[in-house]
This record gives sequence, C-alpha cells and structure tokens, in this order.
Amino acid sequence: MKAALLSAVDGPFELADVPDPEVADGQALVQVRAAGLNFLDVLIRHGRYPQMPELPAVLGAELCGELEDGTRVMALVTRGGYAELAAVDRASLVPLPEHASFAEGAAFLLTFLTAYVPLTRQVRLVEGATVLVHAAAGGVGTATIQVARALGARVVGAAGSAEKLDLCRELGAEDAFLYDEIPDDLRVDVVVDPVGGELFEAAIGRLRPLGQLVAIGYAGGMWPELQPANVVGRSVGIQGVYLGRLLRHAPDVVAACTRELLELWGNGTIKPLVGAEFPLADVEKAHELVESRRSVGKVVLLP
Ligand SMILES: NC(=O)c1ccc[n+]([C@@H]2O[C@H](COP(=O)([O-])OP(=O)(O)OC[C@H]3O[C@@H](n4cnc5c(N)ncnc54)[C@H](OP(=O)(O)O)[C@@H]3O)[C@@H](O)[C@H]2O)c1
Repeated sequence: MKAALLSAVDGPFELADVPDPEVADGQALVQVRAAGLNFLDVLIRHGRYPQMPELPAVLGAELCGELEDGTRVMALVTRGGYAELAAVDRASLVPLPEHASFAEGAAFLLTFLTAYVPLTRQVRLVEGATVLVHAAAGGVGTATIQVARALGARVVGAAGSAEKLDLCRELGAEDAFLYDEIPDDLRVDVVVDPVGGELFEAAIGRLRPLGQLVAIGYAGGMWPELQPANVVGRSVGIQGVYLGRLLRHAPDVVAACTRELLELWGNGTIKPLVGAEFPLADVEKAHELVESRRSVGKVVLLP
C-alpha cells in the first residue's frame, strides 16, 4: 500500500510503498478514504510532541473509510492514518453517519470530543454563560464554537487573522476579535485555549469569578509556569484535557460523549468543517497550510 512516511524530525514526508498492515485479533482492516490532519501531527513532525513515535512512522491519528464488507467507519488511532490501509481496533470503530462524507468523518471525532468533553464534563457551563474561544477558526476552535452554542452559551471567538473572524460569526460566535484587539474589559465565564503561551496567561485575567480556563494545547508556545495564587486570588479554575489519555483511561466517558455528539450531528446542531482536502501525495502542502496558520476547520488527506 501507499503511505506517507516521516523518517526524521523536521524531515520531508515521502510517499512510499510499504507492506500492508498486519491485522491482529480484535482489529479490522480499514480502507482509508480520508485522514484528518491534526496539529499533533505537526508537533510530531517537528519533535515537539511529548510522546514521540519511533521514526520512520506513518502519522495520522484520525481516519475514516470502509471495512471489507463496505461498512463506513470513523476511528481515532495512535498512528497510521496517512495511508491507504489501516489496522484498527474494532472497539475504536465508530459508524459513519449516512448523511456524512468520508472527509467530514475524518474531521469529526478528535476536534469535537476535545471541545465536548471539557464543556460537558469538566466546566460548569450555565445557560447564557460566555465562552471565549482562542484559535476559533481552527479544527478544535470551529468545533468548540458549535458545541458551546449547542449548550446554550454565548460565544466570543478570537483568531490570528481578519479573514477568520467572519467564519467565527457564521458558526455562531456573537463577536470575534483579533487577539490583540480583544477588549480589555471583556470578561467571560469560560476560556477554551488551544494556543498556550502568552495568550493562555492573559486568559486568566479575563475570567469572571468562578470562571474556568480550559487548557487544550500549545500551538503558539509552551504554557507558562503557573502560580496557584493567580487562580486562588481570582476564584477561578484551570482545567486540562488530553483526549489521548482519556481514550486509554476513561473510554466510557469518551464513548458516551461520542454518542451524544453523533446525536447532535444527526439533528443538524453541529457539523464538522472541512476547510481543505488534499490527495495523500500532497501531504507536504497540507502540512504547510496548517503551519502557515491560514487553514480553517480541519484539513483532510485523501489516500
Ligand atoms: N488536548 C487535546 O486532547 C487536544 C486535542 C486536539 C487538539 N489539541 C491541540 O489543540 C490545538 C489546535 O489543534 P487543531 O488540530 O484544531 O489545529 P488548528 O486549530 O486547526 O490549527 C492551529 C491553530 O493554532 C493557531 N496558532 C497560534 N499560534 C500558532 C503558531 N505559532 N503556529 C501555528 N498555529 C498557531 C492558529 O490559529 P490563529 O492563527 O487563529 O491563531 C492555527 O490555525 C493544538 O495545539 C493541538 O495540539 C489538543
């Protein structure tokens, strides 16, 4: 089969012929029709991910495709999505809804679970609460806007370029700002932050008392050292969520959230946003697009 191989940190992807994956007991062979490009693939490529795989490796933690009997499925996997075939644990297979395309299926689970778990299981989100979403036009961001709206919250988006702000509003954000134009007096109940760095630190000061900051990622730079005094004095909380660990140690929570999200997708309340599609051979271009910060929604590869 063809797969996009990464042989070295910072190295190029090479479209190579590799042996078909071995299918172990309890696994199924999936003909991959679409693979989601997630920021963790960018971090791995540049050696910035805490759990680095041994290289060469086939990246790709999210895929959508068909089983041998034609059943359409989506799945989160540790690796291996950037390929024509993948061996996937049967327990990880989620049926692709009839109304969905393969590309949408590769743009659903990772981002929407990352948005949904904290907003429903970790944060107290009273109706009418205001949620500020950083990187709001990105994969996790566009999912978070939709989930927060579905839960009755008022949403404010923040993003890195003017073109992205209109998209945030289209998805249901009441307001949207460039990061350096967020009003000084904006106070919110929840901040969802996939960016990290200085933006994360500034977000603590934007929380109302009893507010919560949800730390999701560090696309823009590592988190600063935290002083408990900063959260105690403001009566606020910081929550972290890491889907990879939840999949291993809290699979029941992930399964319940997946069912709830499928219902919201089925009744049209939420919908994955596929911002760009590339053939697998153009994996370099796809990664360049995400690294350039010009991508919106989810970038998807088509093997
Ligand atoms: N904790 C978890 O389980 C989990 C799960 C999924 C994703 N994540 C994390 O969430 C973040 C978003 O993931 P995603 O896949 O949805 O990506 P994404 O949001 O589609 O793309 C990353 C976005 O981050 C923003 N950004 C800010 N500074 C950046 C920089 N220096 N370089 C590149 N991008 C920068 C950009 O948006 P602006 O230009 O608008 O700032 C960019 O579009 C990543 O940090 C990822 O690792 C964590």
